[in-house]
Amino acid sequence: MANLFDIKGRVVVMTGACGVLGATIVKYFAAQGCKVVLLDLERAAEKGNQLVAEIKADGGEAMFLPTNVLDTAALEQNLADILKAYGSVDILLNAAGGNMGPANVTPEQTIFDLDIDATRKVIDLNTFGTIIPTKVFAKAMVENKKGSIINFCSMSSFRPLTRVAGYGIAKAGMASWTQWLAGELAIKFGEGLRVNAIAPGFLLTNQNRTLLTNPDGSLTDRSHKIIGHTPFGRFLEPDELVGALHYLACDASKGVTGTIVAVDGGFNAFTI
Ligand SMILES: NC(=O)c1ccc[n+]([C@@H]2O[C@H](COP(=O)([O-])OP(=O)(O)OC[C@H]3O[C@@H](n4cnc5c(N)ncnc54)[C@H](O)[C@@H]3O)[C@@H](O)[C@H]2O)c1
Repeated sequence: MANLFDIKGRVVVMTGACGVLGATIVKYFAAQGCKVVLLDLERAAEKGNQLVAEIKADGGEAMFLPTNVLDTAALEQNLADILKAYGSVDILLNAAGGNMGPANVTPEQTIFDLDIDATRKVIDLNTFGTIIPTKVFAKAMVENKKGSIINFCSMSSFRPLTRVAGYGIAKAGMASWTQWLAGELAIKFGEGLRVNAIAPGFLLTNQNRTLLTNPDGSLTDRSHKIIGHTPFGRFLEPDELVGALHYLACDASKGVTGTIVAVDGGFNAFTI
């Protein structure tokens, strides 16, 4: 019987690939024999090219392309470059996104201090920064009648977290978008086109470092609350996400679309 987990030779395109989670994820897919395309802002080019060099030094295949996930023309240029180099887009990881400090409502603030511009930016990046690349790259998947799109949801896709209003709005919307698009693509283009999401639990990364650690490096009260609500009793690590991504990307999940896989040490399932 065929190995349903074999993804050797598949073309993986990851937006936001130079972020905290990106390095682990792109290296993992490259190690599975995938051709990996790292998409990120021009300002991340140095990091992107360094990751590509590391992947190539390990015998893998990868390239970095500058982009802007809010710019259709830039993404269409990326698609042309990818098709020329690798011939297809098989797996799309929509990871560009995240929260921004000015959009937070601090404990001293109230709803009346909510920064609308910053909130709008967070919603825009996380929402349209997933929808626009999908519109562009799914065209190549439709032509092949096959493709796996994986969105990056969050614990705030299921229930809002204090302080991060805009992020929660966007990630809850992304859960709905994942389910909507799963139906839309399967109905219109066939069951080879699948859309799922992972919902990472809490990792200690740059995007949330100011919320989770004090300037001296000790954990904040918020961190203690998170860990207290996590059956594993700890933060997650980036390498704990790759198994779920691999499963959703490969033929082992060929009957699965419209799902959100929580990788959270039990946080979302837990009450007391
Ligand atoms: N790290 C976590 O704890 C965590 C938890 C849950 C969900 N997530 C989600 O996972 C995804 C990746 O998280 P991360 O921690 O690696 O984020 P990150 O902030 O470290 O990286 C995001 C990357 O996106 C890039 N980016 C920003 N705007 C862009 C744009 N307009 N065009 C192209 N690229 C752009 C940034 O340059 C950066 O490299 C995000 O969607 C995030 O919301 C992360």
